[in-house]
Amino acid sequence: MSHFLKPPLERIPPSVACAGDYERHARERLDDGVWAYLNGAAADGLTHEENLAAFRRLRLLPRVLADMKDGCTSVELFGAHFEHPVLVAPMAFQKLAHPDGEIATAVAATALKGGMVVSAQASVSIEDIAAAAGGALWFQLYILPDRDFTLRLVKRAEEAGYRALVVTVDAPVAGIRNDEQRAGFALPPGVEAVNLRGMKSPPPHMAGPGESAVFASPLLAAAPGWADIEWLAANTHLPLLLKGILHPDDARRALDAGAAGIIVSNHGGRTLDTVPATIDVLPGIVGAVAGHAPVLLDGGIRRGTDVVKALALGASAVLVGRPVVHALAAAGAPGVAHVLHMLRAELEAAMALAGCRRLADLTSAVLWRDAAEG
Ligand code: FNR
Ligand code: LAC
Repeated sequence: MSHFLKPPLERIPPSVACAGDYERHARERLDDGVWAYLNGAAADGLTHEENLAAFRRLRLLPRVLADMKDGCTSVELFGAHFEHPVLVAPMAFQKLAHPDGEIATAVAATALKGGMVVSAQASVSIEDIAAAAGGALWFQLYILPDRDFTLRLVKRAEEAGYRALVVTVDAPVAGIRNDEQRAGFALPPGVEAVNLRGMKSPPPHMAGPGESAVFASPLLAAAPGWADIEWLAANTHLPLLLKGILHPDDARRALDAGAAGIIVSNHGGRTLDTVPATIDVLPGIVGAVAGHAPVLLDGGIRRGTDVVKALALGASAVLVGRPVVHALAAAGAPGVAHVLHMLRAELEAAMALAGCRRLADLTSAVLWRDAAEG
């Protein structure tokens, strides 16, 4: 039996008015296991909830009667021009959401002149995704235990025209995924990490009684360190971003190791549970980076006002995860284009209503501070 319970929507109903409205339509179409993977978080999901709650707590303070001529949302990142600062976050196995998988997402994101980060665990070849896309894509990878394979993957991404590399550093081992365990999630036939075929993996580890389940794993023994970041930076002409930074000292260290950008991320609450919301740690990291490199953020972006808040606290752009995969599951490429369009339209409305013409006008001055906070 297929994991798709219903075909995608043929027409997007008017009741889908914001990004969050896609969730219900996605849920109806996917079986429990796939839903647990695509929408789930680690352990108790506290960090995922906190990502959302922290945006909800922040308040905007608009200025009226501002000059709004020639308003625009465009941003330049590593030499590529994007019409809006809302990129698609790297998400693995998108064929779980829709038979067109990453192709649909890439076509939609680039048609809207935005960016997309393609996961190393994509279910479509990175060359096919690049060929289908009409604009700049970035490639996300892990520094894998098989370093030669890692480098071959980087060369493939360079040759296929990817414009930046995003190295995810917050998942040397998988998080505690209780949702997936309970739902008995396994990849269905026909969905696999096609770009990782032929990789040498460490032998699977079965901990014996009294033995460490995680620390004794050969995977952890081969986990990357800072020297591997320097190695990768020296072996590619693409700018390197580190994704999964939460501590200001790690942000500084990333720049020293050759990173050209930072993505403040807690993996959407899918790796270590109980870490803080990304929007709460962003100011500390922006302070540490001190303008030397762009800082991006993901985790919990659901509204244009969330984008405003992230940029006001110093992010250059944001990435969106789950809402994109919900829209993909619900309605394929048109769904993804729609969700990105709505986020951009909300961003423009929020900027216009707050009196900000350009992304550069989004500073902490648009955030309201409780008088008690000082
Ligand atoms: C992810 N994420 C992720 N991150 C990464 O670096 N490589 C990957 O392959 C994946 N895969 C993945 C699959 C799915 C289904 C989800 C939902 C997420 C994390 C992702 O890039 C991003 O950090 C979060 O999804 C952002 O949070 P929101 O927008 O989902 O709240
Ligand atoms: C995830 C991995 C693939 O979050 O990064 O599912």
